[in-house]
Amino acid sequence: MTQQGRARACANIALAKYWGKSDETLNLPAVPSLSITLDALVTETVVTLDPGLFEDEVLFDGVVRSGDDATRAREMLGRIRERAGSAVCARVETVNHFPTASGLASSASGFAALAAAGASAYGVDAPLELLSAWARRSSASAARSLYGGFVELSAGLPGDDSLSARVVADAHHWDVCVVIALASLERKKTSSRDGMLETARTSPFYPAWLACAPGYFLEVREGVLARDLERVGEAMEASTFAMHASALAARPAVRYYAAATAVLLDCVESLRARGIAAYSTMDAGPHVKVLCMAGDALAVRDALVASGGAVDVRIARPGPGLTR
Ligand code: DP6
Repeated sequence: MTQQGRARACANIALAKYWGKSDETLNLPAVPSLSITLDALVTETVVTLDPGLFEDEVLFDGVVRSGDDATRAREMLGRIRERAGSAVCARVETVNHFPTASGLASSASGFAALAAAGASAYGVDAPLELLSAWARRSSASAARSLYGGFVELSAGLPGDDSLSARVVADAHHWDVCVVIALASLERKKTSSRDGMLETARTSPFYPAWLACAPGYFLEVREGVLARDLERVGEAMEASTFAMHASALAARPAVRYYAAATAVLLDCVESLRARGIAAYSTMDAGPHVKVLCMAGDALAVRDALVASGGAVDVRIARPGPGLTR
């Protein structure tokens, strides 16, 4: 009988950002973060045990991969094998159902789906918290993608490998959308991992980021629970710009925005001036994601398209957690 496991997980966008680590070996975040899991960005992963393999084979969208993502996938499978007491290697087939070949981060959904598919292929009965902790070890934002809706991940205590994410509110809690404006189709130059490590090593503003980030997180959390878009939006923008400011002050600068990013940010400000509550966030890339009420999502999309700053604009809603 083939030993196979499969799982689906959605990507997430942080409203309060994780940037920096308290323990690089265990990949623990230095600050708490809170995200929305998004229904429009889905990764499906199948793990199949194959005694004929000498090394795990990792395929993304049908293409064999050998870079950093493949190494992290092998490391995760290694941890699952240790738990299962198995020495058999596996084939990992991952398909991203993302709007385009977009440069949007797929590692969060990818590692969340891999943890679950790997555990079931190796017959390990792992609760969601353990899957979330495994996903976090590969990519901290991935810990949040095991869960649907609004999800938090605390800062990690150095040495505590058990850290996992938690649900703050489910996907039906609040009728918001995230409108995703892609500023370019190019792949990002500096990964979030390298960007945050460089920031921590060389940016004089990193200590200020560490001091401010927990406050932004609390504001976002309270705002989400109260369904207060203005409170969440303002704190989200503060978290976003403080994270990017700390990265920009690294030597050399870690810069993710592009010319089109500024066009999109201006567009969101002018939407607000017209009375539409819309707020921007950016991650380790030039794209702008806009938080707004579901009823305003089409108007926000149309304005972003008309701004000329986007190559593609999609609307996403709060989405589900892991499905197997
Ligand atoms: C800017 O989770 O990709 O998207 O743990 O090193 O893999 P690693 O980093 P990663 O960083 C995500 C950073 C962010 C903000 C966030 O998602 O919280």
